[in-house]
Amino acid sequence: MKNKKAISMNKIDGKTWQEIWKGKGESGLERSRYDLKTLMALDGFDKLGSMPVESWKSLGKVIAEALELRNDDFVLEVGCGAGAMLLMIQGRSRVFGLDYSLPLLKVAKEVLANPGLVSGEAVCLPFKSGTFSAVFSNSVFHYFPDYEYARQVILEVIRVTKDNGRIFITDIPDISAKKRIESRRQELGLSYNNKYPGLQHLYYPHSFFKRIALNTGLKIRITEQDIKGYWYSNLKFNVLFRK
Ligand SMILES: C[S@@+](CC[C@H](N)C(=O)[O-])C[C@H]1O[C@@H](n2cnc3c(N)ncnc32)[C@H](O)[C@@H]1O
Repeated sequence: MKNKKAISMNKIDGKTWQEIWKGKGESGLERSRYDLKTLMALDGFDKLGSMPVESWKSLGKVIAEALELRNDDFVLEVGCGAGAMLLMIQGRSRVFGLDYSLPLLKVAKEVLANPGLVSGEAVCLPFKSGTFSAVFSNSVFHYFPDYEYARQVILEVIRVTKDNGRIFITDIPDISAKKRIESRRQELGLSYNNKYPGLQHLYYPHSFFKRIALNTGLKIRITEQDIKGYWYSNLKFNVLFRK
């Protein structure tokens, strides 16, 4: 596990995504109260990634329905950030979150009721096998350093999920939309290449997830995103696995 952890710690010409996410959380810490819009911004859903609060709430319903959440379920969000999405899910199940940004976890602790929060890397989940009825990860996979890391994360998620459990990975940037996304960011002066030289998002083909389903025997369903008022809507996709 040591080597896998080291991958995402590596500096790529300066900052790592981990350092950037830690910094983002710190800038929000002066606040004593957080409304949903602020939490969404802390979690990166601002600027080109913004969407109306109502769309965020609808997305919460889509995630809860796909995960078939029930009250007695334990549900884990991998890369929960400041808890903007866990806030939509709590009340339906007992919620747990993992993230590598301590400042964002601190915010999540303040806004969620009785959450189980842990700091750590997605590739090494500090939970026993079969702990969760459902696991999801919203808008996280593009921060992973490479496909092998992402594959290891999915295997970890499968391990901590119960048999017949549901796994939902959402907001995955489609590799076929890479040029369109990057040129739009460039036009708006939001290119990561200018801001953080060398740091990139990881884009995925559907086949990456289909291959994992084939190798692990999991059922898979891939759906396009359809979120009102979200620029990325049809440029990203969702993957639902059933163990
Ligand atoms: C765009 S935010 C999404 C936050 C949350 N999922 C939501 O929907 O509001 C991405 C989050 O993933 C976390 N993250 C990225 N890579 C990670 C990794 N390898 N391990 C743990 N957390 C990670 C970041 O710290 C950040 O909080």
